[in-house]
Amino acid sequence: MKTKNKILVTSALPYANGPIHLGHLVEYIQTDIWVRFKKLTGSEVVYICADDAHGTPIMLKAKEQGITPEKLIEEVKKSHEEDFRNFYIDFDHYSSTNSVKNKELCEEIFTNLNHSGHISQKVISQFYDDKEKIFLPDRYIKGTCPKCNAEDQYGDSCESCGATYSPTELIDPKSILSNTEPKTKDTNHYFFNLKDFKDYLIAWTKSHNLQTPIRNKLNEWLNESLNDWDITRDEPYFGFKIPGEKDKYFYVWMDAPIGYIAAFEEYSEKNNKFKGIWDKEEEGEIYHFIGKDISYFHALFWPSILNGAGYRTPTGIFCHGFLTVDGKKMSKSRGTFIKASDYLKYLDPEFLRYYFSSKLNDGIEDIDLNFDDLTKKINSDLVGKLINLASRCSAFLEKNSELMLSKDLEDEEKFKIFLTDINEIKNFYEERKFSNAISKIMLMTDKANQYINEKKPWSIQDLEEVQKISTQGLNYFRTLVILLSPVMPDLQKKTEDMLNEKDLVWNDSLKPLLNKKIKKFVTLKKRIQKEDIQKLKDELTNINIKTNVEEKSMANEIEYDDFSKIDLRIGEILEAINVEGADKLLKLKVNLGDLGDKEIFAGIKKSYKPEDLIGMKTIVVANLKPKTMKFGISSAMVLAASSDGEIIVIEADSKIKNGSKVK
Ligand code: MSP
Ligand code: ZN
Repeated sequence: MKTKNKILVTSALPYANGPIHLGHLVEYIQTDIWVRFKKLTGSEVVYICADDAHGTPIMLKAKEQGITPEKLIEEVKKSHEEDFRNFYIDFDHYSSTNSVKNKELCEEIFTNLNHSGHISQKVISQFYDDKEKIFLPDRYIKGTCPKCNAEDQYGDSCESCGATYSPTELIDPKSILSNTEPKTKDTNHYFFNLKDFKDYLIAWTKSHNLQTPIRNKLNEWLNESLNDWDITRDEPYFGFKIPGEKDKYFYVWMDAPIGYIAAFEEYSEKNNKFKGIWDKEEEGEIYHFIGKDISYFHALFWPSILNGAGYRTPTGIFCHGFLTVDGKKMSKSRGTFIKASDYLKYLDPEFLRYYFSSKLNDGIEDIDLNFDDLTKKINSDLVGKLINLASRCSAFLEKNSELMLSKDLEDEEKFKIFLTDINEIKNFYEERKFSNAISKIMLMTDKANQYINEKKPWSIQDLEEVQKISTQGLNYFRTLVILLSPVMPDLQKKTEDMLNEKDLVWNDSLKPLLNKKIKKFVTLKKRIQKEDIQKLKDELTNINIKTNVEEKSMANEIEYDDFSKIDLRIGEILEAINVEGADKLLKLKVNLGDLGDKEIFAGIKKSYKPEDLIGMKTIVVANLKPKTMKFGISSAMVLAASSDGEIIVIEADSKIKNGSKVK
């Protein structure tokens, strides 16, 4: 018998400077489903991931919170792992790029590349923030695009025309840390000579498992001249030092992919399994799942580094598109930035897995999350058709045959025909065409329900016949749950429990379960209630109006001019009412003297009864741009402080006249 091929699968390593959000989950859910499917169908697979723990943003975030970067990445890793667990993302090992193993490997690979002549050194002139005493990463510089003149673009690429450039090419550049014009300063950097690998990359692109649009993009890049890649960052930086250097570090994008190897090695050493998969001479396959935004790093630099250092290069790179919410890019200010942990407060994690699967395929198009569509798919398809099939059939069994399954199916031939679609579903999963798999499974669910509707067990007197029909119906359900199990592992577990079974694998879907006592039906999945969606949406809106007073450390210094832009006025609260459907909001009418009355939505409901606020004088940001919210337009802001978990409105002396300027 042919030995099973060893497969290593990775998802991109999430940055350790923020929480997991639903956009990330497109990727981790997609990968997890594929890995579960491969395991269920008998492949030997290891699924590895890690936090991407280095770089300037992480260093600055830790500084802002007054903690060490090590502390920050430890806390973030814990929360990432918890989110992943809650969404049933089942890594075989989850590590961090800030590990001993990764440091060793980075040094080894760098030294190796250096000795084989693939590293060069060059003094370059880079933007430096003299006020903050730091060389500025491209993303910390904004200015006007040199190609299309779009304003407010980052230092590395233009979101408007897609051009990539060096930050020194920007017109009118500004440091986003200090809002000052950055100076240029000379520094010696190490470069990876990407052009040494042009021929290799051309061959790699031809022979490897890449999606057509990604292959086309690669060919486009390969037709242009390949620039050497700067792999150094100067102090201050959070990362690994370059061997032999005092104040120079590996750029985070150099050490992050090496983290794939390091995390794998940790797993392999601990479990004594899969040794040598990165070794070219060994058997094995490596697949990286990534978002299309990071394909340049994974399809150009990464294979070149691996090839240059003598490692196996990836067998395939699978890219996916971006998640949009209600057709728009996820954004905090629009209330469409949804953290994994916020979603979990109101909705079942498997509903998101099901929903994403019903939209995912092997392409790189963006996918949209629309809550009406989600509710429809869950309530009418998943619960209304699939779960309902089980509840109907087990009710008959409970009533007529003490939950005993019959010895035979009612119509064996029909059951066999039902199973013929399974191979097609298998291929869909294999090719990552999950939406096709889900459609097919739902068609089969329709067939199963149709069977029950035609047989009408409720109108049959012969108890044995009813038992056989219900047994057949329940076996349809059981098969469907196994086919869905890469997507809904928890539904499978609950079903196994009901059927007194364990660890079902793909091929179990072919063998009906007969002549066995099962447990009473318990609700496997509940319908989504409108209120749950509403609560989640309210929570997202409320996050945006929350004042920033919870920041632990002082914000950056500002000039008096910056302060004087804010028109602060004394206002008197004339009306305060609860906002229907919003947990945290009160609607206020505030009088600002000569400036008239303003309507303001304030997230202060938990600390006040509306009537307590009436007549209170407070300080209002009178010139804040009006903001359209779900409940109306908020046309100013009331100042409040958060203190011991309460949000307390700043009270002003009642002697001060309404509309007086606060200076
Ligand atoms: N740290 C790098 C990856 C290093 S891999 C050696 C990174 N991290 S990330 O946290 O920004 O993103 C992790 C993955 O999530 C990436 O593949 C990225 O494409 C994906 N997504 C992040 N936001 C996303 C959406 N809104 N939609 C879909 N995928 C998204 O990049
Ligand atoms: Zn541009």
